[in-house]
Parts: sequence; structure tokens; C-alpha cells
Amino acid sequence: MERIERLLGALTVTEKIGQLSMAAAARAVTGPGSQRDLEKDIRSAAVGSVLNAWGSAEVRALQRLAIEHSRPGIPLLFGLDVIHGHRTVFPVPLAEAGLFDPDSWEQTARAAAAEAAADGVSLTFAPMVDVARDPRWGRTVESPGEDPWVASEFAAAKTRGFQGAGLRADSSVAATAKHFCGYGAVTAGREYASVDLSERTLHEVHLPAFAAAVAAGVAAVMPAFIDVGGVPMSANVPLLQGWLRVRQGFHGVVISDYNAIPELCAHGVAADLAEASALALRAGIDIDMGGSAYRTGLSQALDRGLIEHWQLDASVRRVLMLKEMLGLFDRPYRGQEAPVPAAATRALARQVARGAITLLTHRRPVLPLAAHLRRIALIGPLASAAQEMLGPWHADGRAEEAISILAGLQTALPRCRIDSSAGVDLTGQRRGIAAALECARAAELSILCLGEGSAMSGEAGSRAELGLPGEQRALAEAVLDIGRPVIGLLTSGRPLTLPWLFERADAVLATWFLGSEAGDAIADVLTGTFNPTGKLPLSWPRQVGQVPIFFAQRPTGRPARAGERLTSSYLDVPATPQFPFGHGLSYSSFALRDLRCTPRSVKAAAAIEVSVSVHNESATAGEASVFLFVRDPLASIARPLLELKGVRRIALAGGERGSVAWQLPVAALAFPGVDFEPLLEPGVFEICVGQSADADGLLRCSIEVVP
Ligand code: BGC
Repeated sequence: MERIERLLGALTVTEKIGQLSMAAAARAVTGPGSQRDLEKDIRSAAVGSVLNAWGSAEVRALQRLAIEHSRPGIPLLFGLDVIHGHRTVFPVPLAEAGLFDPDSWEQTARAAAAEAAADGVSLTFAPMVDVARDPRWGRTVESPGEDPWVASEFAAAKTRGFQGAGLRADSSVAATAKHFCGYGAVTAGREYASVDLSERTLHEVHLPAFAAAVAAGVAAVMPAFIDVGGVPMSANVPLLQGWLRVRQGFHGVVISDYNAIPELCAHGVAADLAEASALALRAGIDIDMGGSAYRTGLSQALDRGLIEHWQLDASVRRVLMLKEMLGLFDRPYRGQEAPVPAAATRALARQVARGAITLLTHRRPVLPLAAHLRRIALIGPLASAAQEMLGPWHADGRAEEAISILAGLQTALPRCRIDSSAGVDLTGQRRGIAAALECARAAELSILCLGEGSAMSGEAGSRAELGLPGEQRALAEAVLDIGRPVIGLLTSGRPLTLPWLFERADAVLATWFLGSEAGDAIADVLTGTFNPTGKLPLSWPRQVGQVPIFFAQRPTGRPARAGERLTSSYLDVPATPQFPFGHGLSYSSFALRDLRCTPRSVKAAAAIEVSVSVHNESATAGEASVFLFVRDPLASIARPLLELKGVRRIALAGGERGSVAWQLPVAALAFPGVDFEPLLEPGVFEICVGQSADADGLLRCSIEVVP
């Protein structure tokens, strides 16, 4: 603290503003930047942090400029989007969420942090914890899915993973929970569009993950690009100051999204950069990512009396504090010599990637692939697309180090002939459907590698249609028409609405963007080396017209009844999803029985013991996932039909029986009251346990909370 006050006292106003300005390096993915300008700005202490510079040599050179050639000599922070891996790329967050395994989430963040820190990165713009219920929105791929409980667990696990035992450790990076908040609810799924949310949905759905990240000690928070009810998040005093800083007690750094402060003018709430900067600083945004607003606008804002010096100092103090916590003043080149065990990280990538693959349908027994297969056709634009496997954010991930589906299968099946043919390209043209069909006719089985390119999801990746882009459907139907066994593999950053494929293909798997080890992981599942475990972290719609779609719907006065009018349904499509949240088949089959909840009558301070027996009814060893939901059927505010409270995984040998149990604190049955503080209302609650959110498959028992 003493050091920080001393430094603060020695800085000029311009240098203080520099500490709050983050500029992009020339290697920029996000924004344009010139290396010469950047170096000049570092020397003049006009920037205090840099984004998109990594690599030990590059970072060292820039850091040396700051320390040895700028007047204050304050080290720089280096920020990068290490979203799902650095050099080794793990599955995209949406895929990884489908493991429902906080230990895995933490381990991959740990491994990514170690690689990134060794490359000079001190700050990651992750985890992204936006709840996503509308898969038109491209950033669904970066999210942990539709559920606030999962998002909260994910936020905490990722924060622990990135930050490790402490920010000073060589292998730690400071984490940033983003995008605060409600970004997943953009109007009609359209990127950057306005958000209109009830305060209740904000508190029940979108804020819990940020509270969890703060509770886990997250170093930074990034406001979203959007406005919520007309108040842009980059100027949102009630949420950034009131909820985040005051109610949650967040003392860390708030970093704007890229160029979001100047964009306050485009939002129509600021006339110029001085006003935009003043709005952002007053809302508590400490770092201007992009840097142009604060550098131009803050001194004018001071001159015009729009902000006061203490407000500027408060932000500078927080930035210096983060540098102190990272140990940058004592070791500005921290972490850059730490060796990173590449083989172990690759092994982890394969383990997590295969665990994330979701077997959506298995209509005829084509999986695992029969050992006697001698000829397979691998068809579709994603068959040998190594680069696409990396997904939309892949930091330092390299296509030449990623394993394509073809390469993975070739290694796994050395005695099987695999003919590969793209047939069509990703978005557009029929190139070689005839050649692809020739392959398929000559093979015993075809594997269709369909889906989206990595650039079709992620930021600015909204889509109004959720089908296969380009001519892929024509290709797939022509292969299906041949009448031989067909397996579909869907590479995508969102659920795709393909009812025709789910009806006709023998099996379909969601393989998302699985990262560096994609091909090997897919081969592990197809050959049965690994029995699939991935479960859907969101409801998979049948039609785009059903979105937003999620299991935690509120009851209506007229619940949906198939085929009946005047109920909450559609005339043309069932109200249910194609696949419910939590769905994911396995080569084993599991049955749940004997749900027990004790005691049946319980006081507020107590816990409920919930247990259920799980039987592997097949001969194949496998792993089941069991979901614990609650339902509050009578409350002062209508509660959702199901609320997720826990997930357990259990590995069972063929024929084996086991059980899973939870100690559910009664406090977990509370909901935000009228003041949005937790409110526990006595009465009857249903405890529901199942292998997905499909209401028909749930075991239920009731307990009563007594005053
Ligand atoms: C994205 C952020 C990202 C930032 C820096 C923005 O466009 O919205 O998620 O962290 O760029 O790359």
C-alpha cells in the first residue's frame, strides 16, 4: 500500500491517465495497432497495459521499455483472451460446460494460465460467464450455457484455475469475469443489440455467476458492450457501482470492453469523448481497453469539472494494486522462464475433449465402430479442417498442432481404409458432391463431418438460421439416400436445428470445437476407447422459432398440452426442445431408482440429504450424470418449473449399482425476494432428480420447510 501511495503521488495527471489506458499491440486480433506508436506510448507512459502482445521476447522488450525508458518506470500489464487454452487449445467453453465437472474446468484454466504466463501474459479476459439461452447469439460458444447455477460453478472454477494459489505465482494470471451483464439476452440474438431485462431475470439468471466470480476472488470484471434498458453497461452506475462494488464488495479492477467507452457516443448517451470518459470513470471503469477515450477525454473531463481528481486516483490505485498483487513491481518478467509440461497439457486436452463430446442420437447400433470395418468414407467440409477445430478464440493455438477428424481416425484405425472428401465447402458451393458420393458408395459406413466454421460463431457471429450453412444439407441427404450406415458429427459453436438429420442418421454426435486434440478425442469416442459422457449445457431447439429456450421456464396458467389449443404451445412445432438440457447418450444405459430425501420436515438452517441409486443396466462400463433440481410449487413469486441445484457423476462397471448423494442446504431453496435479497419461504418443495431436465424422466419427492 505504501508503495502504491508513493507511486501515485509521483505521477502526473497524464501519467495517471496512462495507467488507465490499455493499447493494442500490432499483433492485435481485436483492434488495429501500430507497433511504433505502441512503443512510443510506452516510453511516454501514455499506456499502462497492453493487449494482444504475447511471447516471451516481445513481452520482455515492451516491458523493458516501460521500466527502463519511461519516466515512472511502472511495469505494464499484458492482457490476452486466453479463453479456452493458450498454445494448447481446449474445447470451447460451451463444450467444456457439458462435462459438468468443476475439477476439469479448473484444471484446463490452470494449464492455460501456465502456458500463457510463460508467454508473458499477466491478465486474461476470461472467464466469460454470460448465461446464453438464445443460440442465434454467436457468443453462446464462449458461454457455459443456459443455467445460472452452472454458470456460477463455472465462474468460480475458472477463477480458481486461472489465478491458482495466488496471483504472484509464476503460473497464475489475473482473471476477468465478463461480460457484465445480461449480454446473452441481446434482442433477437443479434450481436451488440440492446438488452431489455426485468430486474428479476437480471438477479436470478444473469448476476449469480458474477457474484460467484467475485466470491472466488476474481481480479477483474469487464462490462458488456450492450445497454440494459437504455443504460449502456460501460456507464451503468447502479450495476457497476451499486451491485458490483457496494453489494458484492468487489475491490478489483473494472476493464472496459474493446473501444466500448468511445462507443458511448454511438449509444447516444455522450456527446464527445470527454463526456464518455466521465460517464465510464464515474461508473467505476478503471481501464479503457482501446485507450483512445481516456487518453483524449479524461483530462478534458477534469478541466470541465465532469470528474474530480479523487475519482481518477481511485481508479489508478486499483490498477497499481493489481500490478502489486501480480508481483510485477518486484518481478516484471514474472513467469517467463517457467517450463510448461507440454505432453501433460496435451493429454489433459484430449481427456477433456473426449469427455465433452455429446452423443445426441443412436438410433441403430453403429457405435462403437465395429472392429471388422475395412472401409469408411469421411465426408464433409470439416473432415480434414484442423484449423476449424480450434474454435473462434484460440490465443496462440496453431492449426499445424491441431488434429483433424481425418488424422485422428487414421491413427486410431490403421487397418481401415478411410477415404475423405469434402463434397462441398463450408458456406457456399457444391464443389465435389459426385466425388463424395462415390466415396460413400464404396464404403461400409459414412461419417458426415458437418457444421459451422469457427468464424460462424463467437463475437459478431449471430445467425438468424440455425441450420447447416451452404449446401451441406444437400450433401448429407445424398449420402443418406445411399442407404448405408451414416454417423453425423456436428462441429459447431451452438446447437443446430437439424430434425431431418436426427431422424435419418444412425447416430449423431455434437463435437463442438474441441481444440488441439479434436481428432484424437473424436476417434476415442467413435472407436469406443472412451464411452461418451458429454451432456448438453443448454436445451437444443427443434426450430429457431422456439428460441430463447431453456428448462427453467415459469409455469403458465395454461401449461402446454400436445395438440391442444389455448395452451402455452405452438400450432406447428412441439413446445419441447429437440434434446433437453442435460441430454447425452452413452454406450451404457443407466436407471435411477429409490430417491430418498431426509428429513421430510426441515428447518431453515439445516440441510436435506438427497440420495438416489444408479444402476448400470448394460454390460458396458460407463459414467452417468445425475442432476438435482428443485421446484417451489407455491411461493409469493412464481418460481420456475425446475431449478438446478447440483450435478453428480458416477462411474459404474457393466451391471454395477451405486448411488449418488447431496447435502442440499435449505438455504439453497431461497429465491430473491422483492428487494432481491435471498428469501426463504416455508412450505413444501419438490426435489427432482434425473439424467436430464426432461420432466418425464424425473424422480420426485417432497420435503417441507418449517418455520
Ligand atoms: C470482446 C471481449 C474481448 C476483447 C479483447 C472484445 O471485442 O467483446 O470479449 O475480451 O474484445 O479482445
